[in-house]
Amino acid sequence: MGLPKCLCILVAFYMVWTIDVALSQSNKGNSKPQFRPGPGPVQVQGLAKNFYQKTCPKAHDIIQSQVTKVINQNPSQAAGLLRVMFHDCFVQGCDASLLLTKPMVSEQIAAPNNASLRTSTFRIIDQIKDALESACPGVVSCADTVALSTTIALKMVGGPDVPMLTGRRDGRTAASNQTVIASIPSPLLNISALKQNFQNHGLDSKDLVALSGGHTFGQAHCRVVDFQLSPQISADLKPAFAANLSRICLPANNSAKAGITVHLDFITKDLFDNNYYKNVLNKVAVFHSDAALLDAPDTKQLVQLYAKDQNKFFEQFKVSMVKLSQLGVLTGQNGIIRKTCSLPT
Ligand code: HEM
Ligand SMILES: *[C@@H]1O[C@H](CO)[C@@H](O)[C@H](O)[C@H]1NC(C)=O
Ligand SMILES: *[C@@H]1O[C@H](CO)[C@@H](O)[C@H](O)[C@H]1NC(C)=O
Ligand SMILES: *[C@@H]1O[C@H](CO)[C@@H](O)[C@H](O)[C@H]1NC(C)=O
Ligand SMILES: *[C@@H]1O[C@H](CO)[C@@H](O)[C@H](O)[C@H]1NC(C)=O
Ligand SMILES: *[C@@H]1O[C@H](CO)[C@@H](O)[C@H](O)[C@H]1NC(C)=O
Repeated sequence: MGLPKCLCILVAFYMVWTIDVALSQSNKGNSKPQFRPGPGPVQVQGLAKNFYQKTCPKAHDIIQSQVTKVINQNPSQAAGLLRVMFHDCFVQGCDASLLLTKPMVSEQIAAPNNASLRTSTFRIIDQIKDALESACPGVVSCADTVALSTTIALKMVGGPDVPMLTGRRDGRTAASNQTVIASIPSPLLNISALKQNFQNHGLDSKDLVALSGGHTFGQAHCRVVDFQLSPQISADLKPAFAANLSRICLPANNSAKAGITVHLDFITKDLFDNNYYKNVLNKVAVFHSDAALLDAPDTKQLVQLYAKDQNKFFEQFKVSMVKLSQLGVLTGQNGIIRKTCSLPT
């Protein structure tokens, strides 16, 4: 990275930090702030409520029946789908570039994704797309397949009914390693770096707190949990919880530990609910980036609110999910409809 770019990032960082401090101070003495959902998504030309109504009227039913089968068999795939959607949308927009494998180098093997995203989820998306191709060849994009499958799966495991729009088209190329690394937040980030990362994607603190609620289900590999356990136990974790994580993660070293995981929410492990926020407050959330939400006054107040009031969480989550689902979308004449999600045609 060149020096000017570096300086610019530092200046931007400093500005965000200054604004945070100013905001947190202006909040003092205002002990009962009004909570409203944050600003909603902007209108994106080319996205619509039921884009395939005329061109593939059965699209929604096809995805619904496929996803129902998958989730009934294995509810934790809802988490697999949500994370794939997040990692697609945060890198070069929701263009399904994450699903590409051959012939270009895939986003799938970049450090934040390799051996971390579930390969089973990619297979499931391929199956759903195959069913769509049989009914309406070349009509429904891979990006919309991901967005609708995730929406349906979330609802099946207790989540809110996200008003997902459709009309996305697919990209042709996967992003570089560097782009993936620069775009996906690390679990080691502190609160100002997390806010900065989300701001880089046009998302605010309310989006950060609500979307972090994605850690209310699913799993984490010991590889990314060990930072919290050794060489010393992080102050983020309640000792009894750290002991439980250590029992699962620490004995299995090197190759033996490659596939071992812990639940992100050990209380309601497969449910999409507000238990994540209770976990953060109780110091039984897994990552530093979860605990860090308590390190700024605005994000801390939202964690406390969502822990008490699931409806408030769901209200903001719906807004933030729609914003996530519209990041950098290709519509109209842009992009293509890929027939096979792993291939660029
Ligand atoms: C705020 C910054 C975030 C960080 C630092 C972060 C980090 C992580 C990490 C390290 C894992 C475990 C990876 C592994 O096992 O190798 C994970 C899992 C997961 N994350 Fe996040 N994440 C963040 C935000 C989000 C968002 C915005 C969503 C979705 C709205 C999300 C949804 C998930 C889900 C569902 C899983 C479990 C996946 C599965 O079970 O397959 N995360 N996250
Ligand atoms: C991806 O993970 C596998 C282990 O599942 C490892 O063998 C491989 O070297 C990794 N690839 C890259 C590019 O990091
Ligand atoms: C990304 O990194 C992997 C391994 O670290 C490497 O095999 C691959 O060639 C890299 N791709 C690009 C486009 O740099
Ligand atoms: C947060 O992390 C950034 C980047 O690593 C660092 O520059 C900054 O000093 C940290 N801020 C605090 C308050 O620890
Ligand atoms: C630790 O694990 C035990 C046994 O599975 C469980 O009963 C307990 O609730 C866990 N406690 C924490 C804080 O994780
Ligand atoms: C490493 O893993 C092996 C096999 O699982 C186990 O026998 C050994 O005790 C582990 N060592 C450590 C330091 O955890």
